[in-house]
Amino acid sequence: MTNKLPAGPDCPAWAQLAAAAPAAQARSTRELFAADSARFAHCSLQAAGLLFDYSRQRVTPKMMPTFAALADQLGLRERIAAMFRGDAINSTEGRAVLHTALRRGAAGTPLIVGGENIDALVHSERQHMLAFAEAVRAGGIRSSAGEPFSLVVNIGIGGSDLGPAMAVEALRQYTAGAPRVAFVSNVDGCQLTDIVAGADPRRTLFVICSKTFTTLETRSNALAARSWLQAQLGAAAVPAHFAAVSVNSKAMDEFGVHPEYRFALWDWVGGRYSIWSSIGVSLAIAIGRANFEAFLAGAAEMDQHFQGAPWAANLPVLAAMLGVWNVNFLGLPTLAVLPYDQRLARFSAYLQQLEMESNGKSVRLDGSPASTATCPVIWGEPGNNAQHSFFQLLHQGSERAAIDFLLPVNSSCDSQPQQDLAIANCLAQAEAFAFGQTPEQVSADLSRQGVPAARIAELLPHKVHPGNRPSTLLMFPRLDPATLGRLIALYEHKVFVQSVVWGINAFDQWGVELGKKLCDTIVPLVQKPETAGNVTSSLRGALDFVARERG
Ligand code: F6P
Repeated sequence: MTNKLPAGPDCPAWAQLAAAAPAAQARSTRELFAADSARFAHCSLQAAGLLFDYSRQRVTPKMMPTFAALADQLGLRERIAAMFRGDAINSTEGRAVLHTALRRGAAGTPLIVGGENIDALVHSERQHMLAFAEAVRAGGIRSSAGEPFSLVVNIGIGGSDLGPAMAVEALRQYTAGAPRVAFVSNVDGCQLTDIVAGADPRRTLFVICSKTFTTLETRSNALAARSWLQAQLGAAAVPAHFAAVSVNSKAMDEFGVHPEYRFALWDWVGGRYSIWSSIGVSLAIAIGRANFEAFLAGAAEMDQHFQGAPWAANLPVLAAMLGVWNVNFLGLPTLAVLPYDQRLARFSAYLQQLEMESNGKSVRLDGSPASTATCPVIWGEPGNNAQHSFFQLLHQGSERAAIDFLLPVNSSCDSQPQQDLAIANCLAQAEAFAFGQTPEQVSADLSRQGVPAARIAELLPHKVHPGNRPSTLLMFPRLDPATLGRLIALYEHKVFVQSVVWGINAFDQWGVELGKKLCDTIVPLVQKPETAGNVTSSLRGALDFVARERG
């Protein structure tokens, strides 16, 4: 039944948007502001503690009913309800999608799916994980040497790394008194080597996060960590230094994870949506129970907003529709995510997996090809650093991008005078991208500086900024745990709404499998290049080079 659902291009509202696009393309942002002196009031929203300012997007308030009509024609209300109640909307894997259940409040009717009380399951697992995190944090759980842990190393990759790593950095201000938390993901072993180089094994705890426990990168890092620990403290010490989170309890047994330090996960939690589960254990160790609960509560607040708010005042729906407008009607194939807060340095990397692993697909739910572009390329860096790197291209390059600015008002590190500078930079860039700098402005500036007319004529084309680069400015009072929860949930739901519009399944990831399968066959060839039989000439050439050059 799921795969018969309509997608955006099947809807009458889509044709209306297509009809409106040429005029919108032709209209400058300056004209949009000139036509509406209250544009900010008409094109911004405050909800769930966030200010969502889309006044610099290339839309008019008149288009909002068309976006709302599109949502209705797609049956979005029912599609949202189906996700929250646990229907198997991940049709290619036959699974429910219930990351929202991981942050539901205790009140209300319990969520029962397939006869199972999901709330009870989640609650008991969360208590187990948080009790562990608190005990590690407070030194109640100790190492084999009777020492409190001073270093916690999260070993995982993808959703078992990016969420916790991003959030621990984002909430560094809330980590006082906690052990240092470090992250190891890459298969080449360098991160682990660097971390253990300065570590005291008697005070080091490893947390292996892997939904499947079969992921090559995580397994090889976990085995290397175990060898290091064993070499330092002996085999008997291993269980006291290894916790793990997985659906694969057999693999946790075989690895030698401490029997009480094992945490469960369920099939209905996708890796990139799993930070709310026990996969967040290293975050919970870093920020403590109360902050972790506030993080969940922030996300739950966004869940309620998403389920209840009318389309025109619904942040995830608006964000999704603006994204669709930019990709499908304005032809902007990338989205630059630019936080003006160093603590959000990993946010765009996190979103890359969330958005591109979810919606980076070109077939619809029924297996037919998508008839339109789908997920944009997500990229970005902390805004100020990016200003001195790739902003040139954003301002004047031939490729245009849509932009999301993220901006806290209060400093995330008690440096308000410097955060004020970050705020000014962010607002300046938002204005520059929207309005640019006209030939008249450039010319007036240069003649004020006494530049001769002939030189002005030469410089003019180089100094004009065309503007009309659409951006959304997401502001919030401070980057606290609840706000981070709201922000992540906002993007999660945006991704879901966009998948509904594009008619694709946001919750599988078949595109990552081929490379993994090929890697399994190539590992032995890299180890023994001379055994490579009938391989492509390119592969043969690379293997020969490895054989010649390996030290
Ligand atoms: O390769 C992609 C992926 O399957 C992601 O979806 C997932 O987050 C990551 O690998 C890690 O998987 P696991 O948690 O099972 O080790």
